[in-house]
Amino acid sequence: MVNISVNLNGVQLQNPIIPASGTFGFGNEFRDFYDVNILGAISIKGTTKEPRYGNPQPRIAECSSGMINSVGLQNPGIDTVVNKEIPNLRKFYHQPIIANISGFSIDEYVECCNKVDALVDIIEVNVSCPNVHNGGMSFGTNPESAAMVTKAVKAVTTKPVFIKLTPNVTDIVSIAKACENAGADGLTLINTLLGMRIDIKRRKPIIANKMGGFSGPAIFPVAIRMVYQVAKACSIPIIGCGGVSNVDDVIEMMMAGATAVEVGTANLIEPMTCKTIIQQLPNRLLEIGFNNIQDIIGII
Ligand SMILES: Cc1cc2nc3c(=O)[nH]c(=O)nc-3n(C[C@H](O)[C@H](O)[C@H](O)COP(=O)(O)O)c2cc1C
Repeated sequence: MVNISVNLNGVQLQNPIIPASGTFGFGNEFRDFYDVNILGAISIKGTTKEPRYGNPQPRIAECSSGMINSVGLQNPGIDTVVNKEIPNLRKFYHQPIIANISGFSIDEYVECCNKVDALVDIIEVNVSCPNVHNGGMSFGTNPESAAMVTKAVKAVTTKPVFIKLTPNVTDIVSIAKACENAGADGLTLINTLLGMRIDIKRRKPIIANKMGGFSGPAIFPVAIRMVYQVAKACSIPIIGCGGVSNVDDVIEMMMAGATAVEVGTANLIEPMTCKTIIQQLPNRLLEIGFNNIQDIIGII
């Protein structure tokens, strides 16, 4: 018998596999492929205070081993998520739910976290959004503003707060430590890398918004490096994310220091990815000499 359960600061997961926010909607679309109750948890689509229709089309550009997206946080807004999407998900899904919250001001983060608090198990705070009151700089690119968001949401939530970090920084460790010192219960990393593609015949950027977030297998080594660096410097649990597409990627991410692993773009390439990984995980661990997944966390 192989133990593949993990614990995220008090929240027990039957296995470490979590679909990443924005690649799994509110769980509904994937019910046609498999029983989503096999998942460790679900991180639902990033939610903002107001409904958002997203950025102009085209907003996806395929790349070798990845993709660029500029969806622009399209979502129905916190009130609809709280009143409709989460209750609907709870009807067929009985494992932990992770709310993914975005904001364009500290007040917006606070309002969303406060409203969602009673309905979910973990709150994941996406600090990649621009701070409209501070020249549009992303909250997550500076230790002080990342700490400010962390403190503010911690004051209005009772659930574990995981701050989701952007990789578009020079020193991710200083930002991770600032969040930990401000009271974060955990960290999720990484979000997408800023990227761009050009249509050489039209002589224009492929994405209407010119640039977008680069994700998929190509970013995996960057994610591993950042998870490793942050795990060495911080003592709160990490959800590793970025380019994971198979069972060995999950094991590698956990050896780098992650307690659980989010799978994003791989769901869009092959919707059965999470199920396949969960099925293969016990035997793969045995093959490499482990019968308890917790023994591999941060082993290197
Ligand atoms: C289409 C798309 C939409 C996304 N939407 C969100 C979002 O709403 N909130 C968020 O925190 N991250 C969002 N992300 C980022 C993913 O959750 C993940 O951090 C990133 O894609 C890296 O993982 P991957 O390489 O496995 O996709 C989105 C990614 C994609 C591809």
